[in-house]
Amino acid sequence: MKIKTGILGCTGAVGQKFITLLQNNPLFEITELAASNKSSGKKFSDAVNWTESNPIPEKLKNKIIKNCKPNLDCKLVFSGLDSAVAGDIEDEFANAGYIVISNSKNHRMDNDVPLLIPEINITHLSLLKSQITRRKSGGFIVTNPNCSTVVLCLSLLPFIKNNEIEKVIVTTMQAISGAGYPGVPSLDILGNIIPFIKDEEEKIQSEPLKIFGKIKNNKIEFAKIKISALCNRVPVKDGHTLSVSIKLKNKTTVDKLINQIHKFKSNNKYTSPKKLLYYFDNPGRPQPSLDVNLGNGMSVSVGNIRNCNVLDFKFTALGHNTIRGAAGLAILNAEYLIGKGFFNK
Ligand SMILES: NC(=O)c1ccc[n+]([C@@H]2O[C@H](COP(=O)([O-])OP(=O)(O)OC[C@H]3O[C@@H](n4cnc5c(N)ncnc54)[C@H](OP(=O)(O)O)[C@@H]3O)[C@@H](O)[C@H]2O)c1
Repeated sequence: MKIKTGILGCTGAVGQKFITLLQNNPLFEITELAASNKSSGKKFSDAVNWTESNPIPEKLKNKIIKNCKPNLDCKLVFSGLDSAVAGDIEDEFANAGYIVISNSKNHRMDNDVPLLIPEINITHLSLLKSQITRRKSGGFIVTNPNCSTVVLCLSLLPFIKNNEIEKVIVTTMQAISGAGYPGVPSLDILGNIIPFIKDEEEKIQSEPLKIFGKIKNNKIEFAKIKISALCNRVPVKDGHTLSVSIKLKNKTTVDKLINQIHKFKSNNKYTSPKKLLYYFDNPGRPQPSLDVNLGNGMSVSVGNIRNCNVLDFKFTALGHNTIRGAAGLAILNAEYLIGKGFFNK
């Protein structure tokens, strides 16, 4: 039997992506849709400004949107809530016994909340023991990292194999859909670049340290990488592109790093891509319009790894912000939680 699933923030950019991605998922069935007072009480098709390229699933068109109160008929909620309200609402659901998988920033750095990219830090699920004890309801929160952080951390995987990263300088070129719907006004972004995204640099500079941290005495000992991030909003619909330079502790070569990328294998989760990382020798790739949907939007592309005159290596990375950076990753996290038995408790 499929797991009954609710979508908090069902009308937003991330909420709509959950609805699209869950249509054919064999493990989860959407039984509840919830959003703000503006939308609750309305049929989904009347409340939403649907921006996905596929039509609204027939069985959800007439579904009535509810308030984000923990009286929904489901075990799991995926949250695509605005961060202005997500913190308290997600706590209420977790305290009432729901499993909450969040895309918002609010609980990411909480001591007992895993900030999960399962291909990197699945061991951080051990933090849930103390969170479940604290909440006393059986419920808990797992969070996704910031969307650019996800792309950056996956692109760094080949560099940490048998090595340590000391410094990272990353410049992001982030898609408009990263700002939600309706997001950035068209007059501000068409033919333009906005060299600032509120709080984004801080998230990209801090979250990887938790993600690459090691569990010691049931706490995370943060990684000691120095990261400097510079963030830009660019007129691209989907896909965050990153220019990255890094300094490593030990020497290695471009060929070894590229070989390492080809070695990453797929795992058996339904939402996992066949290839976690794609590599492009072509210095003109990856590009959002050509490569953002590789692996159904769940792969990250890396291009043109080369030596750097200032640090050691530099390259380009690209990932889909609402799929690998949000809804797709949240679904993958839920699949791992099933695999680890968290839905049997
Ligand atoms: N977009 C991305 O690429 C991306 C990637 C990673 C993480 N995130 C994070 O994911 C979250 C959602 O992002 P988004 O881009 O989908 O934003 P969005 O398009 O602005 O959607 C926000 C959602 O929150 C709901 N909401 C707003 N106020 C509410 C309230 N008081 N009570 C209940 N629901 C309320 C909205 O419902 P109404 O329509 O009823 O107002 C809407 O469904 C944010 O925290 C964002 O930072 C986004």
